[in-house]
Amino acid sequence: MTKKLFVWDLSVRLFHWLLIISLLSAWYTSDGERGLIDYHLKIGYFILGLILFRITWGIFGTHYAKFSQFLPTKTKLKNYLKKSKQEKGYTTIGHNPLGGLMVVFMLLLILSQAISGLFMNDDVFTTGPYYESASSSVQKIMSFIHHNVFDVILIVSVLHIGAIFYYLFTKKINLIVPMITGYKLSHSEKTSGIKSSKLLLSLIIIIIVAVFLYWLLVLNIPVEEEFYY
Ligand code: HEM
Ligand code: HEM
Repeated sequence: MTKKLFVWDLSVRLFHWLLIISLLSAWYTSDGERGLIDYHLKIGYFILGLILFRITWGIFGTHYAKFSQFLPTKTKLKNYLKKSKQEKGYTTIGHNPLGGLMVVFMLLLILSQAISGLFMNDDVFTTGPYYESASSSVQKIMSFIHHNVFDVILIVSVLHIGAIFYYLFTKKINLIVPMITGYKLSHSEKTSGIKSSKLLLSLIIIIIVAVFLYWLLVLNIPVEEEFYY
């Protein structure tokens, strides 16, 4: 019997598509020659907010959005690989254990890109809010991260999109439509979907993340000493 299950809540779906749009915009605005670096900083703060939201949602959110549901253990990974070999169209309802690993890896990479941005300097007029207060070795490390991790994000994103299309064309499983509508088809009696998107909880977490960012990016910024002659 095939059932239609509600799997991806509204927050996960919005997070995913907003993340892609903002990463593309961050890349476009990062080129100093386009004169859009001020927008780059704002988009970077927005991405930082998105990732902080998703990490919190991974702890308190809906069932399939939780890290505890999709972070693989050895047994989960073994079972998944065994069943995938036996059954061509086998899949799990939430992220599969390998996909789960990739999700956590992507979140950490993007988080490190955004945090390192806070310590950046474009050698012209623009500096991240924590650049001045960092020691020169921290500035160098952050600059190294910011200039290199984006390439890793690109490689992992290509692998991620490749995996989604591998599922579509080889396993004949469409994961893209569920990331848009929230609904997945299940052939198993045992699986069940989520009841709601927990929108109120999502809103509370968004407010907490926004307050934290206000503290981090406005209230906590070290005041530069000014010298008057
Ligand atoms: C910059 C490029 C991309 C990044 C960084 C990215 C990142 C992510 C992340 C972090 C998740 C986990 C979602 C969550 O649990 O909150 C995810 C899942 C997913 N992404 Fe992407 N994504 C990218 C591009 C795409 C594209 C272009 C597509 C569609 C063609 C796509 C389709 C999906 C699907 C279907 C899932 C759910 C996979 C599953 O069912 O386990 N992604 N992506
Ligand atoms: C996840 C979010 C972010 C992404 C994906 C991103 C991406 C990038 C990329 C691809 C570059 C070009 C690097 C290169 O040319 O090698 C860049 C440069 C830069 N980013 Fe970001 N960035 C993010 C967040 C931030 C934040 C939050 C800030 C500051 C608050 C920031 C400040 C800068 C500056 C000042 C440059 C220019 C560096 C230079 O010209 O040498 N970025 N960023």
